[in-house]
Amino acid sequence: MIQLINEFTVLLAEGTKALTATRCPTPGLDAGFLLADLLGVERAAMLLDPPAALPAGAADAYRRRIARRVAGEPVQYITGKKEFYNHTFEVGPAVLIPRPETEELVEAVLKQVPPGAALSVADVGTGSGCIAISLGLERPEWRVTAIDLSPAALDIARRNAARLGAANISFAQSDLFAAVPGPFDMIVSNPPYIDFGVKETLQVEVRKFEPPLALFAAERGLAVIRELVAQSAGHLKPGGSLFCEIGYDQKGAVEKFFDGGAWNDVTFLKDISGHDRIVRAARRP
Ligand SMILES: C[S@@+](CC[C@H](N)C(=O)[O-])C[C@H]1O[C@@H](n2cnc3c(N)ncnc32)[C@H](O)[C@@H]1O
Repeated sequence: MIQLINEFTVLLAEGTKALTATRCPTPGLDAGFLLADLLGVERAAMLLDPPAALPAGAADAYRRRIARRVAGEPVQYITGKKEFYNHTFEVGPAVLIPRPETEELVEAVLKQVPPGAALSVADVGTGSGCIAISLGLERPEWRVTAIDLSPAALDIARRNAARLGAANISFAQSDLFAAVPGPFDMIVSNPPYIDFGVKETLQVEVRKFEPPLALFAAERGLAVIRELVAQSAGHLKPGGSLFCEIGYDQKGAVEKFFDGGAWNDVTFLKDISGHDRIVRAARRP
């Protein structure tokens, strides 16, 4: 028994040490998480009650995981999972790892739109499907169209919908609304909005591992948002709503995209850090 606990403890210490030598900000947490996930247990439970025996091959598999993390790969791509809005989503290099700010976008939509009406909703740039599926599960009466330019992202989103039992989602490969004109009652989006110019300042996890199509946009990060706002006016029913996540410093530029008479009630909502992070607007009837 003592020998088995030692094998577990030594492995965990070895992983933590290897990650500490990199610029990994949370070496102990990541090492524990990668081991717990490999063993199919919760990290806290594993630490409280270390396993009596490690399965054959577990030590080698764990060392391979640690080597990937040392090279900068995000934990979520190594485990293939990320929690979002109380659901576990499959993730991989074809999709953005869902962020906590985007849970606030889901929350803002649900708060504004009560259950009951059978709305048609588009999620533009669905990635893992985290927004479309979270909304679809909360509002089974909605029909959600999950749109992405990337076929590989859509494969992951389809698997997430099937595994999580979201039956009210359909999927479309499309450049914004080119293949899915609608009109929709609501459009929700977390588009790419990072300026290509800041790429080298991003963490290695993001810069080297997350898909550029999900991160970057031209015109200092604003090109896709600008086009989304312009096109949404023609793909929403009168009175329909647009909800879009934006970069923390983009409010000043984004509010100009709503000039021109197509929109009412343009409102910016702050995220938990106090940044104007979500823009909400209504299509003028
Ligand atoms: C920031 S990620 C958001 C992914 C997911 N909705 C989330 O919140 O985690 C942006 C997504 O938009 C997709 N995308 C980029 N340009 C697009 C376009 N022109 N039309 C449709 N999807 C696009 C990318 O492939 C990526 O999946």
